[in-house]
Amino acid sequence: MCGIVGCTGSTPVKDVLVNGLKRLEYRGYDSAGVAIQEPDGLKVVHRVGKVAGLESELAYHGELNGTCGIGHTRWATHGRPSTANAHPHTSCDGRIAVVHNGIIENFAELRERLQERGHRFSSETDTEVLAHLVEEAYEQHPGDLLTAMRTSLQHVIGAYGVAVVCADEPGVIVCARKDSPIVVGRGADASYVASDIIALIDATRDVVVLEDGQLARLTPDGIAYFDERGRQIEPCVTHVDWDVDLAEKGGYPDFMLKEIHEQPRVVRDTLAGRMVGGELSIDELGLSYEELNLIDRVYVIACGTSYHAGLIAKNLIERWARIPTEVEVASEFRYRNPIITPSTLVVAVSQSGETADTLAAIRDARIKGAKVFGITNVVGSPVARESDGVIYTKANKEIAVASTKSFLGQVVSLTLLALLLAQTKGKLTTAQVRLLFRELGDTAEQIEGILQDATAIDEAAVACKDAASALFVGRGIGSAICYEGALKLKEISYLHAEAYAAGEMKHGPIALIDDGFPVIAVATQSPVYDKLVSNLKECEARGALIVAIATEGDEEIKKVAQHVIYIPKVRDCFTPITASVPLQLFARSIALLRGCDVDQPRNLAKSVTVE
Ligand code: AGP
Repeated sequence: MCGIVGCTGSTPVKDVLVNGLKRLEYRGYDSAGVAIQEPDGLKVVHRVGKVAGLESELAYHGELNGTCGIGHTRWATHGRPSTANAHPHTSCDGRIAVVHNGIIENFAELRERLQERGHRFSSETDTEVLAHLVEEAYEQHPGDLLTAMRTSLQHVIGAYGVAVVCADEPGVIVCARKDSPIVVGRGADASYVASDIIALIDATRDVVVLEDGQLARLTPDGIAYFDERGRQIEPCVTHVDWDVDLAEKGGYPDFMLKEIHEQPRVVRDTLAGRMVGGELSIDELGLSYEELNLIDRVYVIACGTSYHAGLIAKNLIERWARIPTEVEVASEFRYRNPIITPSTLVVAVSQSGETADTLAAIRDARIKGAKVFGITNVVGSPVARESDGVIYTKANKEIAVASTKSFLGQVVSLTLLALLLAQTKGKLTTAQVRLLFRELGDTAEQIEGILQDATAIDEAAVACKDAASALFVGRGIGSAICYEGALKLKEISYLHAEAYAAGEMKHGPIALIDDGFPVIAVATQSPVYDKLVSNLKECEARGALIVAIATEGDEEIKKVAQHVIYIPKVRDCFTPITASVPLQLFARSIALLRGCDVDQPRNLAKSVTVE
C-alpha cells in the first residue's frame, strides 16, 4: 500500500518527511516524493526509486527550510512506476500539491472533463485528477483549502486517503479519508498526518484515526476536524502503546493476519472501476472483442498458490464461457511442447511477477503464437512486461511469504476474466453479468463477517494441531479450494496435508483414515453437497476427525463433522473467495500452536526466480 506523511510546525519539515517515508518503506513502493511550502511557492520533488534517492535529490535543491509539507511512497496501481507518476501531483499552476492512497474509480471520466476545461496532465495516474479538481474548487473558495478539498471529493467515486497543501495557505495541510487509512496527531510543536501510525509514533502516541467521510485541517497550532458536510466535529483520540514492530503490522501480531484482514479491501480495489456504463470492462487485457471471441482454448499457467487460483478459474471459465480450459504448473508446461494455436489464450498468474518457471512458460507460449495475458500484483514486473495484457490484483505489497490477499486478488481477477469471456461469447447476458458482478462485490462484506469471529476456527485448529497429516476434501469448485487450503497448512505449519476430490477418497486415500485423522472438508451448499456428505460419512465411520467449512444454517453437517466453521451463504461460484479465508486462518492458527513463524516459513521465498 502507498504511504502518506505530512507535518506542519515551526521548524523545517524536510527531514521529518523523509524519516516518516523511511518508516513506511517496509510496505513496499516503487517511487517517492515530497511537496514543501517555501517562500517562493511549493517545492515538489518526486522520483522513481527509493527514499534514499529522493533524499539525495533533495540535497540538490538548496536549503529547504519550509515548515509545512507532505510526502508519499507509491506502490503503482494505475500507471507504471515512473518519476512522472510519482506523487505528489500538482495543479496546472503548481500551487496545489496532492498525495493520495486508494483508487479513484471514475478518474478517466473526471480527467476527460478536466482536460476539456483546459487542464494539462503530466502523469498517467488517477490521483492527478484530485490536484486539478482542488485547483478549480479553490478558485471558487479562495483562502479556504478545506472547502475546496471537501467539494472536490464530492465528485470522486472510489477510495482515498489524501492530503493536500497550497502555496497560498502557509502552514495548512488538509486531509480526508474514505476507505483508505488516515491518522493525524499533535506533537510537541507541530501537527502530523500519515496513512499509518508507524510514521507518527515518534512524534505522538495520541492519534485520531479519521473515519470515512471525515476531513482534518492541520496548522502549526492545532488540528480541526470536520464531517463531509463541513461541520466541525470532536475527534475520538486513540492512545497507541505499540512498539515499532507492532506498529508496522498495524497492531496485528504478524503480517499474515494483517494481510488476511486486508482482503475485503483487496476485493473492493480489484473490482473498482470494472463496471463501466453497465458493461464489464478490462481494457488492459489488450485483446479486441473479436480476438476475445475467437478464443477456443485457455491455458492457465502458474506455480503454487497461483496455480490453485488457476484451478478455480478453470471451473468458472468452463462453467460460464464454455471454453475448454487447462491449468498447468509452469514448470511442466514449458517442457511439454503444448498444443497452441492463434486462438489459444494463455493466462499467466503470478503475484510476484518474477517466477522463473512462469516467465519461461510465457516466452514459450508467445513463441508458439499464443496471446498471453498476465495477472500479477506487481506493476511493471517481468510477467506484466512480457504479456500482451495484464490485470493487476491491487493487493498492494504482500509481506508474509505465504500468499493470502494476493491469492484472493488473483481469484477475483480470474472471476472477472471468466465473466468477460462469457459475456463476449454471449453465454451470459449483460444482466446476468451485472448480477454476478454485484454478488462478487458482496463477498467483501461477507469476508468482513467471517473475520469477526475465529472461535470455531481456533477450536478446530487445537483439535488438529498434533496430527502428522491431514486431508482436505471437496467436490466441484470446493476441491479447487482444498488445494490451496492444504498448501497453506503445510507451508506455514509444516504439518503434511493433501487435497483430494472427495469422490476419490474410496480409491485409495481412505486407507489413511484412522482414529482422529483430520479431514478438512469444504462442505458449503452446492449441487454436489449430498455426495460430499456421503464421502464424509465414509471417513467418519473410520474414526476421522472432520472439520467442515459449511454454509450458515446448515444443521445436517453437524451429524458428520465434529467441528463446523460456518460462512455466509453465497452462490457456489463465489465460495473460493469466502471459504478460503477460514482455511487461511485455520492454517495460521495451527502454525502458531506449533510454534512456527507464519510470516517467514522455513525454506520458502516470496519470489522463486530460479528453476
Ligand atoms: C505462496 O504462498 C506459495 N508458497 C508459492 O507457492 C507461490 O504461490 C509460488 O511460488 C508462485 O509465486 P508467484 O505467484 O509469485 O508466481
